[in-house]
Amino acid sequence: MTQAILPPIGMLAELTHRCPLQCAYCSNPVELLKANREMATEAWLALFDQAADLGVLQIHLSGGEPTLRPDLEVLVQRLASRGVYTNLITAGVGIAEGRMEALAQAGLDHVQVSFQGAFAPTTEKIGNHRGAHEKKMETARQVRAAGLPLTINAPIHRHNIEEVPAFIDLALALDAERLEIANVQYAGWALLNRNALMPDRASVERQVETVRKAQEDLYGVLAIDFVTPDYFAMYPKPCMGGWARDAFVVAPDGSVLPCHAAGTIPDLVFDRFGDKSLAEIWLQSKAFNAFRGTDWMSEPCRSCERQEIDWGGCRCQAMAIAGSAAETDPACAKSPLHARMAALIDEAMAADREEFRYRRIGSPVLERQ
Ligand code: SF4
Ligand code: FES
Repeated sequence: MTQAILPPIGMLAELTHRCPLQCAYCSNPVELLKANREMATEAWLALFDQAADLGVLQIHLSGGEPTLRPDLEVLVQRLASRGVYTNLITAGVGIAEGRMEALAQAGLDHVQVSFQGAFAPTTEKIGNHRGAHEKKMETARQVRAAGLPLTINAPIHRHNIEEVPAFIDLALALDAERLEIANVQYAGWALLNRNALMPDRASVERQVETVRKAQEDLYGVLAIDFVTPDYFAMYPKPCMGGWARDAFVVAPDGSVLPCHAAGTIPDLVFDRFGDKSLAEIWLQSKAFNAFRGTDWMSEPCRSCERQEIDWGGCRCQAMAIAGSAAETDPACAKSPLHARMAALIDEAMAADREEFRYRRIGSPVLERQ
């Protein structure tokens, strides 16, 4: 049945692809945009105004590293004046003294700091940045000192999955409100590095138990969100809450996308803000309408009782593994290609596991860690 198009409520603004870290699990596209492709302040302000007019309630300011934009305070101020909730997603490295305070003054609502490891050697190895861990600790302290709520984001993979208990201790020590234990999604750079990042089944099972117990023990003290690992799942996640359902992504150059990895789906063409208004794009863009709702689904999704729970899973994962974005996400046990997920886990276990392609602007290079 054709569903009405409701206004979006969330937006991920990738303000820049520049970043001081080079994380191999990054979900940004492999072809990163250089600084000269980024939208100017005025264009972002116009876009934010249109987003607020359209009904967006919450904007995640992300990247790359959003604090590399010297106009971040101006952007935050505009969003605050429009009553939009702002969440800064930062790697927490290279942030000048006083910047968090300035962002809080501008009206920032919340900060999420990523940690590549619970210990310095892991953080430095995964992000390829010496001293990163201490800098992140300092940023987290500055967030709390500025009176802002803090989430610690821990992207989980083979190299840090055994650090989950230590991530919990770290979040408590930093007085965080929330900890996201987020198993990496294999898109962008993470897909290139899948073999090196894939955890083994026993570690995943230990992790599930640790998180379950901590969620119970720390109820009311620390909220722990758990993003489960798709490759080990029975059912997929409702990626982006469903394609073009209530959220979208804007790339640094103003391209408006249904999700961060949508550029990997070859037949889709994405509109740019400025060529069209945000409302036109949200309502009429062919790319947005391609997988909206349930009409596009074929079997097994078409007759499945979960179709409005997970919306057929992730279109980009279907593209990467099934070779077509219109297929059921192979993470689903009902997909005829579900066995391919287990085969990819086995393939990763047998591969050279010590090689990364670190995220950089330019062509990917294979490096031993
Ligand atoms: Fe979700 Fe489709 Fe699997 Fe049903 S068949 S659980 S709708 S992915
Ligand atoms: Fe594109 Fe999931 S990342 S739909």
